[in-house]
Amino acid sequence: MITFVGGGNMGSAIVAGLLKAGWQPADVTIVEHSTDRRAVLAEMFPGTQIVSEIGDVENAVIAVKPGAAAEVCAQLAAAGARRVLSIAAGVSVETLQARAGDSCAVVRSMPNTPALVGEGVSAVCGSARCSDADVQWAEAILGAVGTVVRVEERLMDAVTAVSGSGPAYLFLVAEALIDAGVKEGLSRDVADALVRQLLVGSGRLLQQTGEDPAELRRKVTSPNGVTAAAIATLESAGLRSTLEETVRSAVKRSREMGQ
Ligand SMILES: NC(=O)c1ccc[n+]([C@@H]2O[C@H](COP(=O)([O-])OP(=O)(O)OC[C@H]3O[C@@H](n4cnc5c(N)ncnc54)[C@H](OP(=O)(O)O)[C@@H]3O)[C@@H](O)[C@H]2O)c1
Repeated sequence: MITFVGGGNMGSAIVAGLLKAGWQPADVTIVEHSTDRRAVLAEMFPGTQIVSEIGDVENAVIAVKPGAAAEVCAQLAAAGARRVLSIAAGVSVETLQARAGDSCAVVRSMPNTPALVGEGVSAVCGSARCSDADVQWAEAILGAVGTVVRVEERLMDAVTAVSGSGPAYLFLVAEALIDAGVKEGLSRDVADALVRQLLVGSGRLLQQTGEDPAELRRKVTSPNGVTAAAIATLESAGLRSTLEETVRSAVKRSREMGQ
């Protein structure tokens, strides 16, 4: 049995993943404030229980906006939760654990939006109160919508900056590449089709070969060829240092927002 509090984008993505992985709809409860959203959820997930208030709880996922996460955590513990997994960005596991009290173990995570298509990557960290089994429980839930890594809490800002916000960096690359193709005479439709599949295919190569990204890059870069000219431009324009700066500013903002 599992209770989700918040049936928005991320909450519903994880529910979809669990059902696809074989969980029974009757074992899933979604607590959702919004009446309109409850109607949508009832259509999306027939057989699950969609309710407006927290009832009896055993295990739970907090999928509300960060500002509401600590209060929801306290409510879940008061309702009997033994384990809680939070996906709220920037809310520390110790803050949540303090609100939950000793009877409930809290795990914090940072998923990302490719979870919506079952291709997410999440990092998890348990509070000092957690056993290994508690963290494994959280890993199994997030594993239904992608891959999961375990990190120390102090690295959660770095995770947020790399993979939490990361989809936006790649979407910006997609936008810019489509525009560049259009400037070279491609129709927008053709440029769009090329770039979408470019990212999907390159991602699959990374995933399925397990090869070092630098090695995969070398395989498409013949000396003095077309790709070599393009890569030299990216290197001299400072792509690496720009990305370093990008991640640094995201870490800084994530720390500020967590305070
Ligand atoms: N989207 C991302 O890329 C991403 C990545 C990693 C982590 N996260 C985290 O995931 C969490 C959820 O994000 P989201 O994008 O799924 O947000 P969302 O689409 O706004 O969903 C949150 C839902 O929870 C409902 N809600 C709020 N307070 C509630 C309460 N006390 N009880 C029951 N329902 C409540 C909201 O209803 P109302 O609108 O009526 O309040 C809304 O429908 C956030 O904490 C975010 O930091 C998001």
